[in-house]
Amino acid sequence: MKKIFDYKTEWSGLKNRMAQMFNSKSGRTVLLAVDHGYFQGAPAGLEDLRKTIEPLLPFCDAVSPTIGGLKSSFNPWVKTPIILRATGGNSMRKPAELDDEIVTVSVQEMVNLNAIGFTTSCYIGLPHQTDTIANLTTLTDEAHRYGLISIGITAVGSDPVLGKFVKGEREDGGELTAEDKKDALKYLKHACRVVSENGADIVKTYYCDGFEEVVEACLAPIVIAGGTKRPTKEALEFTYNAVKAGAIGVDMGRNIFQNENPVAMIQAVRAVVHDNMTAAQALDLYNSLKGKK
Ligand code: 5RP
Repeated sequence: MKKIFDYKTEWSGLKNRMAQMFNSKSGRTVLLAVDHGYFQGAPAGLEDLRKTIEPLLPFCDAVSPTIGGLKSSFNPWVKTPIILRATGGNSMRKPAELDDEIVTVSVQEMVNLNAIGFTTSCYIGLPHQTDTIANLTTLTDEAHRYGLISIGITAVGSDPVLGKFVKGEREDGGELTAEDKKDALKYLKHACRVVSENGADIVKTYYCDGFEEVVEACLAPIVIAGGTKRPTKEALEFTYNAVKAGAIGVDMGRNIFQNENPVAMIQAVRAVVHDNMTAAQALDLYNSLKGKK
């Protein structure tokens, strides 16, 4: 595992902001992603953002909203560290152009809003690859002057071939074949390496079989997104497998807030990430917590 606390030992604002979002005992993080509205509108589970986040905030180490989500739905007194979504300009209404993103939040605004860092999507292999890498490099360059954390996401837009690696299933809903899994590994290894070479402090990507190789290839520590909502057992399994393979946590959205029991799910994910619980143990925990207030 590439540990976040392997960072150079002298004081820096960047390191101190890392310390805010990483658990000092496990060295890992549970980052809650609630930024989906920037291109999805109001997806299931985020229709009422305030209602969704309030019960989940006590269980995450940091939270990642959009600027609009933060200003409209967060209590200004919240203590949870904020990682702002910093790019957008796309929407599901133009699926063919999902990889065409611009910077939507300035670094000055991030500082003003007391964000500790930002996320930006890099669409590796897609038509707007260069522009989205430029978003990462430009934002990182400026954000690092103020010690803010840069998280680069290996995003796939509406590409049908790449999309199945995110969904964990084929377009027709069938299981991924051995060939698909090989392609996913090859693609994610490449994309994570590219994003890290371009300066992201942390890379957010999707889990795939052989994930150790993705971790090994990537120059920066990795957190996993959850992707499309999967059954609880499966989501806990890929979380466990990713952490075992060396991921330093999750930046997860739909598999938490779209779960039938989001508060139980985030605690189960936490138990895997911070307490080294197996997926089976975390599922037992989930079952014992579900339905409880
Ligand atoms: C898109 C994104 C998301 O909006 C989101 O953060 C993904 O999280 P999840 O897949 O766990 O719902 O990163 O590229």
